[in-house]
Amino acid sequence: MRKIKIAPSILSADFAAMGAAVERLEAAGADLIHCDVMDGTFVPLITFGSQMVEALRPHTRLPLDVHFMTVTPWEKAAEFVRAGANSITVHAEACGGRAAETLRFIRSLGVKSGIAVSPDTPVESVLPLAELFDKLLVMSVVPGRGGQTLIRATLKKAETARAYFASKGLSREIEMDGGITEANAADVVAAGVNVVVAGSTVFGAANMAETIARLRGKR
Ligand code: DX5
Ligand code: ZN
Repeated sequence: MRKIKIAPSILSADFAAMGAAVERLEAAGADLIHCDVMDGTFVPLITFGSQMVEALRPHTRLPLDVHFMTVTPWEKAAEFVRAGANSITVHAEACGGRAAETLRFIRSLGVKSGIAVSPDTPVESVLPLAELFDKLLVMSVVPGRGGQTLIRATLKKAETARAYFASKGLSREIEMDGGITEANAADVVAAGVNVVVAGSTVFGAANMAETIARLRGKR
């Protein structure tokens, strides 16, 4: 059986107390810390840069899973790796014709490479790059903010990708991001997802550890 990893998004944390938030997530059983980097151009909001990753690094041993919602992502990848990122995921829509070289570059930095597809982008457009990425991030909401409702049609992309990787004999992570709740997490996992991102669900939880366990599928 595939191990299900829970990657809480710190987008929903108190930005004035981020170190403590990350420590709390680790204590509550999170597997990864999902860091949403927004540049104000690819999406309207600006969140934080590599200084945040650097500041959080001493607060946790968990991998820092950096999700770039940025244009020209190749320009900032090295900076975030130096700051302590363990994986860098870039949006297919932001890469133009440079997705392959960007993924190769990220791997050359010694971290995992990821490619993300927004809800309107067909997953088939990135599957041929599978040799070059370690994870596929299927966005289940339009990127830009937390607390939205999961778009059910995106689950099909995870199924398509899981079947494709199996047919090629490739072991790849499939991460889903946006609108995941205790009510729909089981469907997300059943679609082939093994990395579950959750922001508002985890930070809105009455008991963070119990919510993380339930997202993982332990009842
Ligand atoms: C959205 C971000 C997500 C977001 C998820 O653009 O990429 O990681 O924080 O938040 P929830 O789980 O609240 O939808
Ligand atoms: Zn994200």
